[in-house]
Amino acid sequence: MTEVYLDNAATTRALPSVVEAVSRALAHAYGNPSSLHRKGMEAEAILKEARGLLARILDVSAGEIVFTSGGTESNALAIKGTAYARRRRGRHLVTTRIEHSSVLSAFRDLEAEGFSVTYLPVDREGRVDPADVRAAVSDETTLVSVMMVNNEIGTVQPIGAIARAAREKRPDVVVHVDAVQALGVMPVRPKELGVDLVSVSGHKIHGPKGVGALYVRKGLQIQPLFGKGSQEGGLRSGTENVPGIAGFGAALRALAEETGEERERLRSLRERLITELLEIEGARLNGARGEGAAPHIANFSFPGVRGEVLVHALEERSVYVSTGSACTSRTVAVSHVLKALGLPEEALESSIRISLSKLTTEDEIAFAVAAIKDAVASLRRMLSRR
Ligand SMILES: Cc1ncc(COP(=O)(O)O)c(C=O)c1O
Repeated sequence: MTEVYLDNAATTRALPSVVEAVSRALAHAYGNPSSLHRKGMEAEAILKEARGLLARILDVSAGEIVFTSGGTESNALAIKGTAYARRRRGRHLVTTRIEHSSVLSAFRDLEAEGFSVTYLPVDREGRVDPADVRAAVSDETTLVSVMMVNNEIGTVQPIGAIARAAREKRPDVVVHVDAVQALGVMPVRPKELGVDLVSVSGHKIHGPKGVGALYVRKGLQIQPLFGKGSQEGGLRSGTENVPGIAGFGAALRALAEETGEERERLRSLRERLITELLEIEGARLNGARGEGAAPHIANFSFPGVRGEVLVHALEERSVYVSTGSACTSRTVAVSHVLKALGLPEEALESSIRISLSKLTTEDEIAFAVAAIKDAVASLRRMLSRR
């Protein structure tokens, strides 16, 4: 086996159909989708097709999809766009301690501008209690933002119950969901969940980087972040990333053709990984097991072995995994998510994240398990000789 890529929560490999769609759009559909002539119409047709596919997958209408530059921008537009649009109704916002850094940074910006934010705690598996949401929402609250699947530990939040709990206190509160890690591994249906805004990203589902979308419930008013241009229903000005959206569309098409079997296959690969890695002495799974977790992310601690040292030892064995979240891994800061679980210091420093995708095979899991067992044993031997 030449290499085993198990860092799919950081980003996924583009499918061949995605590469082809991007290249075709760059070479041929180079018109501006806002132009009135045929070249403009060709580019516009690409947007229309991808918008329709995403709308079908989310079970919403095409007019409710806004294309963005990715999950980070979708989150910022949802959070700041709502806070600004409703600032006269209230200046209190609710989120959780385990959100992605793009969400937390939007809230920190708003705090600096005078908004107040409640950061909800989670239980030992990383789950938010809807009763805590109910208790946090007040007459001043305009927005509740909770992620669907955590990017570091894979825990799934009870979004439907959270949305209902928030509305019991304030029926017109806006509910935003960061579903960047959920799309592709579980159903994401805003209307069934009862939520108003949903963020998704192309590169987590084998599409290109730098493209994503925000579902905005019809009739909901949010404030655009950079001026009110004519594109994307006035919510996101700037010429659309047509090649990126073409690739996103190809990834969505592949997703639409999948059956439930693929998700079951992933879930059983995750279970196998967990069972076999917990055979290592002192190993622990950080987060939930079974239905409480997404089928593609698992986070482990191997006490005595530093996470970043293990990542490099595995790299030497051609296995690619991550410590905590990719966005913070260069700075080797202790993960805010693992901290929120209340893990002991030793577990915080010795954690790695293993994340699968539909391209991951059974043989790759077997190869990675053997490599991890070997790397942990040899690092522990080295340390005990010191
Ligand atoms: C949960 C979550 N939200 C948001 C993002 C940001 O998405 P993007 O990389 O498309 O900006 C990520 C990416 O790591 C993520 O995992």
